[in-house]
Amino acid sequence: MSFPTERPRRLRRTPGLRTLVRETTVAPSDFILPLFVSEAITEKRPIGTMPGVFQITVADAVAEAREAVALGLGGLILFGLPKAKDARGTAAYDPNGPVPKAVAAIKDAVPELVVMTDVCVDEYTDHGHCGILTAEGEVDNDATLEVLAQAALCHARAGADVVAPSDMMDGRVGAIRKALDGEGFTGTAILSYAVKYASAFYGPFREAAECAPKFGDRAGYQMDPGNAREAMREARLDVEEGADMLMVKPGLPYLDILHRVREAFDLPLGAYNVSGEYAMIKAAAAAGMIDEPRAVRELLLSLRRAGADFILTYHAKDAVKWI
Ligand code: PBG
Repeated sequence: MSFPTERPRRLRRTPGLRTLVRETTVAPSDFILPLFVSEAITEKRPIGTMPGVFQITVADAVAEAREAVALGLGGLILFGLPKAKDARGTAAYDPNGPVPKAVAAIKDAVPELVVMTDVCVDEYTDHGHCGILTAEGEVDNDATLEVLAQAALCHARAGADVVAPSDMMDGRVGAIRKALDGEGFTGTAILSYAVKYASAFYGPFREAAECAPKFGDRAGYQMDPGNAREAMREARLDVEEGADMLMVKPGLPYLDILHRVREAFDLPLGAYNVSGEYAMIKAAAAAGMIDEPRAVRELLLSLRRAGADFILTYHAKDAVKWI
């Protein structure tokens, strides 16, 4: 049976039919909103590279959390900007730092909202790398694990539901799981940024989080954009070490990877629609080159269609109106 009997257009004839047969949908509960909580400011500060995104105070974070609940978002992920940085990123596990403070305040105000924290030291080190440096200036994998475990514990103590390591050190999921369980935080989940590429699309974020490396780049620990088999290896290792959920990052340039990870693993899977992807849409929309609501809806759908259960996205609040 084929044309003229078969006519796929029959099911595209009306909006009702199209809705009925749509294979993939997006809902507000699929979105995780990233927030940049700063200790160094007293009022909201716009981020030049990311129109509509701000560095915010702890009080602002609580307001955002209430809005997230009202909109039905899936949750928040918090990034911290400390007052002072040092070579070892010790502010990453300061119990009075911006992230634990915001987590506690949010959990107090809206306990039902899922709160995730980004676990990494690049926002807390004076050199901007995601780990502790050796005398030769290389990132020391094993020495960094201890700091990451401390940071994750600090977030868990404040009440985080999920800790999300984004550093790409080997063995960090296992180290964090062990530290959490050792202190009785057996219920704190780990969302691993399992497959994170060394990407140009993080550029705008580095202004937002003030964490651009002062020398070199992150290619010695983040993945090479040409590699797909290696992504499966990274995901497998994190599953073996006890990750509860996996993530692929960035999103749009790596839809094939998202699909492959989805096919091979049963864990809940996230995609990070990163700062550079957001900035491109915003710039094109501001220049009148693209219909922003339609473009955002389509790209969020593409991440879900490729296999993401949930999406970390700066479009989250707007997208609720547009999907
Ligand atoms: C590292 C981290 C980065 C992002 C999330 N966590 C930056 C990096 O690896 O350089 C990027 C997120 C984005 O670009 O939106 N803590």
